[in-house]
Amino acid sequence: MRTFCYLLLISLFTSLCNASIVEETCKNISSSHPNIAYDFCVSSFKSYNASSQAADQRTLAMIASRLANSTAAKTEARIQQLMDEEKNQPRKNRLDVCMEEYSNAIDELGNAEQAIEAERDIDAQIFLSAALDAASNCEDAFSEAEDACPLATEDGEYGQMAAIALAMVAALRR
Ligand SMILES: *[C@@H]1O[C@H](CO)[C@@H](O)[C@H](O)[C@H]1NC(C)=O
Ligand SMILES: *[C@@H]1O[C@H](CO)[C@@H](O)[C@H](O)[C@H]1NC(C)=O
Ligand SMILES: *[C@@H]1O[C@H](CO)[C@@H](O)[C@H](O)[C@H]1NC(C)=O
Repeated sequence: MRTFCYLLLISLFTSLCNASIVEETCKNISSSHPNIAYDFCVSSFKSYNASSQAADQRTLAMIASRLANSTAAKTEARIQQLMDEEKNQPRKNRLDVCMEEYSNAIDELGNAEQAIEAERDIDAQIFLSAALDAASNCEDAFSEAEDACPLATEDGEYGQMAAIALAMVAALRR
């Protein structure tokens, strides 16, 4: 019985110590940001590459920014597809607002990534905050016209990824 407890204790410690930096970081930011889901955070990083599991916090913040960028690029492609199909001009204009927002976000995320790398964390936060707004600005273009936004899923996913990058850069400054 004693041996069993001892083994149990060892395996408990091992699993605690093996909680990767990704899991710990996602736990930290999801507990202080109710709009960031822990599972979404962990699976996003796991989708990146194997070495990200052992990255330091700054590298993880860069990866988060890159992941937000690829989500933005994916969203742009989706917007283009919707615009090609859309016959209604006012709706096309709203999609155009979203296109412009995401195209700017991609520029801001490029700047953010460079700023994170150069340890200009305040600049990085400014770029990431601007980039994050793309999701809500796109949503607003539709809600102001009382039109259902066809990009709700994409805006949600992108908004969450950009919020993760922003939270991680904010944590670097502490
Ligand atoms: C998580 O938060 C704790 C408590 O604030 C802190 O000590 C730890 O360094 C943080 N870990 C990461 C990976 O951010
Ligand atoms: C994984 O990502 C890290 C951080 O971006 C990068 O340095 C590394 O080269 C990547 N590894 C592979 C195998 O792509
Ligand atoms: C962002 O994504 C676009 C489209 O995939 C790519 O061309 C660009 O290089 C990416 N920017 C960064 C900073 O990774």
